[in-house]
Amino acid sequence: MCGIVAYIGHRNAKPILMEGLKRLEYRGYDSAGMAILEGTTGRLRTDRAVGRVAMLEEKLEGRQEFEGTLGVAHTRWATHGGVTEANAHPHRDDRHGLVLIHNGIIENYAALKTYLQEKGHRFTSETDTEVLAMLISELYEGDLESAVQGALREVTGAYAIAVICEKEPDTLVVARKGSPLMVGIGQGEYVVASDASAIVAHTTQAFALDDYNVVKLTRSSLSTSDIHNTPVTPKVTQLEIDLQEIELGGYTHFMLKEIFEQPKALRACVSGRLDIREGRVVLGGLAAYAKELTKTRRIVLTAQGTALHAAMIGRYMIEDLAKVPAQTEYASEFRYRNPVIEEGTVVIAVSQSGETADTLAALHEARERGALALGVINVVGSTIARDTDAGVYLRVGPEIGVASTKAFTGQVTALSMITLFLARKRLMSADQCADLMRELDQVPDKIQRILDQAQRIARITERYIERENWLFLGRGYNYPTALEGALKLKEISYIHAEGMPAAEMKHGPIALINEGMPAVFIANRGRQYDKVMSNIQEVRSRGGHVIAVATEGDEQIARLAQDVIYVPDVAEPISPLLTVVPLQLMAYYAAVARGHDVDKPRNLAKSVTVE
Ligand code: F6R
Repeated sequence: MCGIVAYIGHRNAKPILMEGLKRLEYRGYDSAGMAILEGTTGRLRTDRAVGRVAMLEEKLEGRQEFEGTLGVAHTRWATHGGVTEANAHPHRDDRHGLVLIHNGIIENYAALKTYLQEKGHRFTSETDTEVLAMLISELYEGDLESAVQGALREVTGAYAIAVICEKEPDTLVVARKGSPLMVGIGQGEYVVASDASAIVAHTTQAFALDDYNVVKLTRSSLSTSDIHNTPVTPKVTQLEIDLQEIELGGYTHFMLKEIFEQPKALRACVSGRLDIREGRVVLGGLAAYAKELTKTRRIVLTAQGTALHAAMIGRYMIEDLAKVPAQTEYASEFRYRNPVIEEGTVVIAVSQSGETADTLAALHEARERGALALGVINVVGSTIARDTDAGVYLRVGPEIGVASTKAFTGQVTALSMITLFLARKRLMSADQCADLMRELDQVPDKIQRILDQAQRIARITERYIERENWLFLGRGYNYPTALEGALKLKEISYIHAEGMPAAEMKHGPIALINEGMPAVFIANRGRQYDKVMSNIQEVRSRGGHVIAVATEGDEQIARLAQDVIYVPDVAEPISPLLTVVPLQLMAYYAAVARGHDVDKPRNLAKSVTVE
């Protein structure tokens, strides 16, 4: 949802900003722009380009006027206004020579625009952001920080912004509410960005802004306040991201890298948390709430997209193994539907980024109504992580590919550990718990065995890539896996796919099946294996082509399905950790074969920080 990066210091800003934009491009890639205070003239130079950051880079190549040590840059995911150069950031004011970049949405922009037009401001874009630039300009009386504070007192909505002004060549002002922003502290320089990936190459000392924080940076000082100018003390921490984790490292795409990283990522996720000898899960983040959790009467898991699919698997596990009533719900629905939260309800927000606007709002709603709020989050220190009472980090490393893969398996792994933590305290014996933990511990090696078949999975996929409609079918624990397989295929290969419980097919969707239509069945051995076999027969007898994900050693299925991808045997509750991997690979290879940019699927952006 837009990436922003800003620099003030003693080095040439352009390459730092350009590099930052490339790192943040996964957050949006409709257009990009940069503004630099030219060193020799003190004038602000701005340029923008529709399309990828590479287009902007080409446009700025060799331009001397973009030499300077103060600048801001932006990569956009369009919300208000079409994808045009005029709507690209940075946005300029019309009076004082100031520019602004913004991630978020100014909700009351229409009323503010009318007011500003009456004051004589002339707008050149359709964006809500330009309104904020003009409002700061309107309030500017020689002090940029105070004009920014004043303007932010007037706006509603979400923002992470960076502002510079020709009249204050030694000042960069940044602020946040709702959208993430971090300040990296270097030697006589500061790099500000939407996330740590654009900072870590320059410094590992950083702090995340809290809502309503306004930070004024000069080349030699930093001061933080809120929008009412009350001083705030930032909490500086050490960034723990390794540069290698955010580089392609020989892979063609981040998505492929992240699929292949899953064994390592899941080892990190469980490391130190499975005490198999004692038959107990060690989750430091939950220890303080163990009593409340044991007594919980209901668990609500809320999330969006892939994270919701992981949550659905979590729900099945919690009810099945810990015997606590559980439900899942789209955060976007939960937050607005006046949900009933009884005493003893625990809400678990599941999110890779920890910044998804709907998930954050659902969490706030639940806390407001008295629920204990837990997070299953990947990004350390993210907004949701900070706003929960407690939680479990995924520890799977940064996920850059827009299509979520290792975060999904990390979420399912974390939810299995939470389930066992709870189940052990309520009813499960140490031996039962140890058995499941042993299974969980072996998952990384088993995933590796699936990854070793990647080339074969690519060949199977390529046979079907001309087909525009696919079905993904599964039952029980693998019904959410079917949803996830369909989502992966849709979002990067633009093939229409539907995921559903295999038994649901007969209630309507079976009418879709025609000669050669691919139907991917998750048909691993489990409680409903025989039922899934019948569903496969139903599809075959109507001409559908069945691609089955089955358990190693299952020979019966080879007689029914056109193609079979085998996965190792594993305890049923955690089987989605294996069965999803072939589906991730199929989506990847389908998108590559259809010539799509896998890491930057059209219309999408990672981390949806607007409603
Ligand atoms: C799909 C995908 C999205 C996210 C969803 C929630 O591949 O990545 O569906 O899962 O936008 O994002 P987080 O997990 O960051 O809250």
